[in-house]
Amino acid sequence: MALVSMAASMPRVVVIASLVAALAMAAGPAAAAAARGGRLIHLRFYMHDITGGPGQTAVQVVKGSGPAHPVMPGSYFGDTTVIDDALTEGASATSRSLGRAQGTYTLASLREPVLSVSMTVALTGGAYNGSTIAVVGRDDVSATVRELAVVGGTGAFRRATGHVLWRTARMESRDHMVLELDVYATVPGASPPPPPRAGAVRQGDLNLINLD
Ligand SMILES: *[C@@H]1O[C@H](CO)[C@@H](O)[C@H](O)[C@H]1NC(C)=O
Repeated sequence: MALVSMAASMPRVVVIASLVAALAMAAGPAAAAAARGGRLIHLRFYMHDITGGPGQTAVQVVKGSGPAHPVMPGSYFGDTTVIDDALTEGASATSRSLGRAQGTYTLASLREPVLSVSMTVALTGGAYNGSTIAVVGRDDVSATVRELAVVGGTGAFRRATGHVLWRTARMESRDHMVLELDVYATVPGASPPPPPRAGAVRQGDLNLINLD
């Protein structure tokens, strides 16, 4: 009997849930994430890709044997670089350190200036110290804004989904490119809050915009 009445009331619940979701969409992505039982976390930071000289953090480990690239002089299809790039709060390399971006990028288009990126953002400062975010995607370096995917994470970013908007902020030198990354990650509502850590700084200090 209870099962029957539950089933009968189901459609109404579904309608209400869709209405809530629709209203939440209108109210913005944070509200939409909340309606799905998640929490949207927005982080902005800068990534320093230094491919040579003092303080080098990006090393080419594969010289592609593929054809010479038509629009990237001196590059070859398959060229692969391993990175351990510094992440900072501001665009300046001397601004507060927030962590490292560790992974690889490969020149993966025969004709376009497109890198295939796979990296882990390891946060070592601020409210999310100790958490990581897995980022994968296509970086068309000729585009002003590139969108990559957040495919997971650990700690506060366990089961995260979302995207990263990725821009070239400036060239510090021929070898030092500064990238601006806006991470929009939705984590399930049941995810544990970031573990408290001795000496942890306030959330605002991480240049963190929590849209909730
Ligand atoms: C981040 O966590 C590590 C390990 O718990 C700790 O040693 C370090 O001091 C923390 N850093 C900040 C900036 O809170």
